[in-house]
Amino acid sequence: MTSPASTVHVNLPGREYDIHIGPDLLGDSGAYIAPLGGRKHVAIVTDETVAGLHLKALQDGLTAAGLTSDALALPAGESTKSWPQLQRTCEWLLDQKVERGDVVIAFGGGVIGDLVGFAAAILRRGVRFVQIPTTLLAQVDSSVGGKTGINAPHGKNLIGAFHQPSLVLADTALLGTLAPRDFLAGYGEVLKYGLLGDSDYFAWLETMGPALAAGDMAARVQAVTRAVQMKAEIVQRDETEQGDRALLNLGHTFCHALEAATGYSDRLLHGEGVAIGCVMAFELSARLGLCSQESPSRVRAHIRNMGMKTDLRDIEGDLPDAETLLGLMGQDKKVVAGKLRFILAREIGDAFITSDVPRDKVLGVLKDALAER
Ligand code: GLY
Repeated sequence: MTSPASTVHVNLPGREYDIHIGPDLLGDSGAYIAPLGGRKHVAIVTDETVAGLHLKALQDGLTAAGLTSDALALPAGESTKSWPQLQRTCEWLLDQKVERGDVVIAFGGGVIGDLVGFAAAILRRGVRFVQIPTTLLAQVDSSVGGKTGINAPHGKNLIGAFHQPSLVLADTALLGTLAPRDFLAGYGEVLKYGLLGDSDYFAWLETMGPALAAGDMAARVQAVTRAVQMKAEIVQRDETEQGDRALLNLGHTFCHALEAATGYSDRLLHGEGVAIGCVMAFELSARLGLCSQESPSRVRAHIRNMGMKTDLRDIEGDLPDAETLLGLMGQDKKVVAGKLRFILAREIGDAFITSDVPRDKVLGVLKDALAER
């Protein structure tokens, strides 16, 4: 196996699994997956873009360990996280005669991981699945922790289930085929981990971020590994988001409103919204006197240095006014008993969850950010 590589264990009793991180894992995919058992024939669900780039390498890796496979390639894009594509996937898996003991492979970014994970959760009341995430965002966030689901006309991820994968293979060589914008959007989720719980990691990213973006493989493996370790620790403490898991939503309350305001379109990718949302969460924290004004400035400086969207003025086209944006935050899943929950910070690396945020302070942050456009 090619180094550098690492393994993170998710210790959920009865549902534990390993996450392997490193370059060129696809070639060994069969060696990782065959020990899970089930038939020697596996069903792969992917998207058309990933299929064109990497499906053959995956299938060759499976064949090397004596596993045959069939693949379903769905259209790429967020609109695939829908009832019609879920139905299509479930019926295809049934056509493939997938049984309780078999393994289904989700091979793609967050859309495929979420959809296929949900299909695996409901097919025959639950079959096992393996996540092979192909984007940075999926490698550090959505492939780990068992959140699965599809979107509803009412909002994103509103229909779903917790269903942990049996194995995650994060092949960091696959990140080499991502468009720079997609890589950097995934980086928004990477830096989130430093901001929420590890100031040393954030400082390391400040130094290594540009090398990471330029393709430094050892740095990529290290960055994904630390993010995944932090996610695993949080998921072990709070699998179903009764408490601490919400820390992973740092930046997301602002982000979800901005995504809704931009129509979930290419104007703002999810990870870009997370990065902007992190800046706004730190700005709000500073205005509430929770952290020093240097913290939002430092967060902003790093994101800007990475060439990423940093502020509302970086989003092209019109945005609604501050009241409307605040209203869109009210549609967020993190609303509990009508109160918005925010993830705020005492300093970089020390985030906490609160519902106790005065409305006018949030409005102030939004108004000032809009005024700078
Ligand atoms: N993406 C946030 C979580 O998995 O909880």
